[in-house]
Amino acid sequence: MNVIHRRGWEIPEREATPEELVFNRRALMKGAGLIGAGAMLPGGALAQGADPSAGLYPAPRNERYRLDRPPHTEDVTGKYNNFYEFGSTKFIWDAAQKLQTRPWTIKFDGLVEKPREVDIDTLLKAVKLEERLYRLRCVEAWSMTIPWTGFPMKQLLDFAKPLSGAKYVRMETFLEPKIAPGQRQTWFPWPFVDGCTIEEAANELAFMVTGAYGKPLAKQFGAPLRVHMPWKYGFKAVKSITRVSFVAERPKGFWEALQPAEYGFWANVNPAVDHPRWSQATEEVLGTRDRIPTVLFNGYGEFVADLYKGLEKEKLWM
Ligand code: MTE
Repeated sequence: MNVIHRRGWEIPEREATPEELVFNRRALMKGAGLIGAGAMLPGGALAQGADPSAGLYPAPRNERYRLDRPPHTEDVTGKYNNFYEFGSTKFIWDAAQKLQTRPWTIKFDGLVEKPREVDIDTLLKAVKLEERLYRLRCVEAWSMTIPWTGFPMKQLLDFAKPLSGAKYVRMETFLEPKIAPGQRQTWFPWPFVDGCTIEEAANELAFMVTGAYGKPLAKQFGAPLRVHMPWKYGFKAVKSITRVSFVAERPKGFWEALQPAEYGFWANVNPAVDHPRWSQATEEVLGTRDRIPTVLFNGYGEFVADLYKGLEKEKLWM
C-alpha cells in the first residue's frame, strides 16, 4: 500500500512532534490575525445565506449530550479542517467554497427495500433536526468540540429501510476532480468512503450532520451532509455524502485502503493503544496549547461500550 503520499496528519517520523508543528502554524496564523474573534473568510464565505435550508436553523438543542468544556468557535474549527478533496493541508476552507451543495442528491442503494435517489432538501423535511454538543478526537491527537445540528443516524436507517441481510452502512463522497483538486491526485483511492456496522449506525450517538453553529453546515465541514460518530477517530466522519449503501460485506475505508497497517475499520478512540507512529494517550485542544488526557471511547463509553462485547478479537482501536 502506498505510504509515500502522506496525509497532513501523517507526519513522517523525522518530524517527532507533529502537534508542535501544527500549533506553531496556528500560532503563526494567529499572529497574522487569521485566527481570532470575528475573523471571517473573504466575502463572508463562512456565512451560508443562499442555502435553501437556512430556515431550519437553529434547531432545538438536545441537552442529553453535554460537554466538559466550552465549544470551539467557528473561526477556529472552520479554518482547520481535513478535507483531502481540497488539499492535504489543514487550510482548505477557501478552496472548499467551490463545492456546489445545491442541487445535491443522495443515492440509497444496496440491500434496501427500494433503491432511490433523494434530494437533500427532501431528506431534511423527512427528519427531525436537533443540535448536539459533541467532541471530535482526530487520530492525529488533537480535539475539538462543536455544536453540530443534524439528526440521529437511526432516522436515516428508518428512511432508507435496509433489508435484514444488510450488516454495514457504506458512505461515499462526491467525485468531481474539476472542482476538487485533491481528486486529481490519482494515488488516493477516490472517492472518499467509510462505513460502520448497522448496530453502530442505530446507536443513539451516531449523528448525520447538516449544520453547525446554528446554521447550515459550512462547506469545509462537509456540507450538505456528513456523519459524526464521536466515539471514533475523526477520519471515520465522511463529509459531503452522495451515496449511502447497505451491504453485507465490511466496507474498506479510504484511509484503510491507503495504509491498512495504521488505519482500520473500527477506529474507536483508546488512549491505551498508540498509533504505530505516535502516542494516543493525550490530545491537544484545538486552538490552545492545552494537552489533556484522552478518554476511552472519547468519553462516550456509557453509550457505546456494549456494541463491542464479543468483538475483543477485532482490531477495535485502529
Ligand atoms: N471526508 C472527506 N470526504 N474527505 C476527507 O479528507 N477527512 C476526515 C473526515 N472526513 C475527510 C473526510 C478526517 S481525517 C477528519 S479528522 C475529519 O473529516 C475532519 O473533520 P473537520 O474538518 O470537520 O474537523
